[in-house]
Amino acid sequence: MDKVKEIYKILENVKDPKFKKSLMELEMVEEVKVENSIVKLKILLPDERYPQKNRIKDNILSALQRLEGIENVEINFTEMHADEKRKILEKENPLKVNHPFWGTNIIAVGSGKGGVGKSTVTANLAFALQREGNKVGIIDADIYGYSIPRLMGLEGGRVRGKDGRILPLEREGVKIISIGSFTDSEDKPIIWRAPMILGVLKQFMEEVDWGELDYLLIDLPPGTGDSPLNIMQMLPNTNLLIVTTPQASASHVAGRVGFLANEVDVHILGVIENMSYFQCSNCGEKYKIFGEGETEELAIRLNTSILGRIPLITEIREKSDEGNPTTLSGGAGEKIFQEVTDEIIKEVKNRNKLVHG
Ligand SMILES: Nc1ncnc2c1ncn2[C@@H]1O[C@H](COP(=O)(O)OP(=O)(O)OP(=O)(O)O)[C@@H](O)[C@H]1O
Ligand SMILES: [Mg+2]
Repeated sequence: MDKVKEIYKILENVKDPKFKKSLMELEMVEEVKVENSIVKLKILLPDERYPQKNRIKDNILSALQRLEGIENVEINFTEMHADEKRKILEKENPLKVNHPFWGTNIIAVGSGKGGVGKSTVTANLAFALQREGNKVGIIDADIYGYSIPRLMGLEGGRVRGKDGRILPLEREGVKIISIGSFTDSEDKPIIWRAPMILGVLKQFMEEVDWGELDYLLIDLPPGTGDSPLNIMQMLPNTNLLIVTTPQASASHVAGRVGFLANEVDVHILGVIENMSYFQCSNCGEKYKIFGEGETEELAIRLNTSILGRIPLITEIREKSDEGNPTTLSGGAGEKIFQEVTDEIIKEVKNRNKLVHG
C-alpha cells in the first residue's frame, strides 16, 4: 500500500482524548506527506492552546511506530477555522453551538479569594465597555453574597416579567440580573442548596430577555468549589478574567481557579491585579501594601498575561458604595479602568479570531 494511504489508515485509529473520536472522523488531519522517509503531518486543533495537544502527539507517534521505512515524524499543529471548530463542537455538544450566547463575548470574573474586587471590576468594566458602544449585560452569579444591584445603583429595584420572560434591570443601558432584585430584604440570607442555585443561574441565562449582547459579564462567587466551575461551563466560549491582589494568599487561590478552568477547557483571558499599590497624594510615593511579584508568577503558571494593575483608590470604593462606579460617574480610577478595559477588548478580539475565525 502507498505509504500515505497507510498513514491515513493508521490515523483512523488514533483518537482525540477529549472527544473520544478518531482524528480522521473529527477532520483534524489536514495533510499527510512522506518525504525522504520523513512523515510530515498537519494536524488541526480546536484551539492553539488545546490542552490535549501533547497527548495527541504521543498517540500519533506511538501509532506510527509500527510503520516501516520511516525515520522521523514531524507534526505541525495549527488552529482550526471557525466552521471546522463549530462542526467539532457540534459533535460534542450541539446545544453549545446553537446557544443564544454563541455570538456574545462572555467574560466570567473570578478570583477564588473573596473581597479582592471582582464585583468592583465587573461593574466598572461594564460601564467602560458600554461607553465604547457595546451592548452589555451582567449576571450576578454570587447568589449568597450578591452585590451588583447596590454597586450599580439599583438597590431596591425589582425585576418584572413580560410575555413569560424576565426583564432585567437597567442602568445606563447596561442590563443586570441579580437574585437581589428578586428578594424582599437585602439582609435576609438565601439558604438554597447548590442544585437550586444552578437552577436559578440557568434561568438567568435562558429566561431573561437579554436582547442581543456584545458582552455578558458574570460576577462569579468567591471560592473554588463546584459553583464557579459549573457556571463557567454553562455557557459557550466562556472566558475567565482572574482578579487577584498582590498577596501570595490571593494569587494561590486564584491559581486554583485558573487550574480548574483549564481542566474544563474554559479559556483564561488574563489576570487583573487589583489593589496593586497606594499612591500618596502628597508625596506621590507608591506603597505596595499587599506586596509584589506574586501576580507575575501566577500569570506564568497559568500561561496567560496580566491585563492591568489597578491601584487602591479611596474614590473607587466610595463611588461603588454610592452605586455610581467610577467609569460611569468619572473621577479617580476612571482612566485606569478604561485602559484595563481596552486591554481586555484587545484580548477578547484576539481570542475571537482564534475561535470564530
Ligand atoms: N482598587 C480599589 N480601590 C479601593 N477600594 C477597592 C478597590 N477594589 C475594590 N475595592 C473595595 O474593596 C471591597 C471589596 O471589593 P468587591 O466587593 O468588588 O470584592 P469581591 O471580590 O467582589 O468580593 P466578594 O468575594 O465578597 O464578592 C469593596 O468595598 C470595594 O469598594
Ligand atoms: Mg463580589
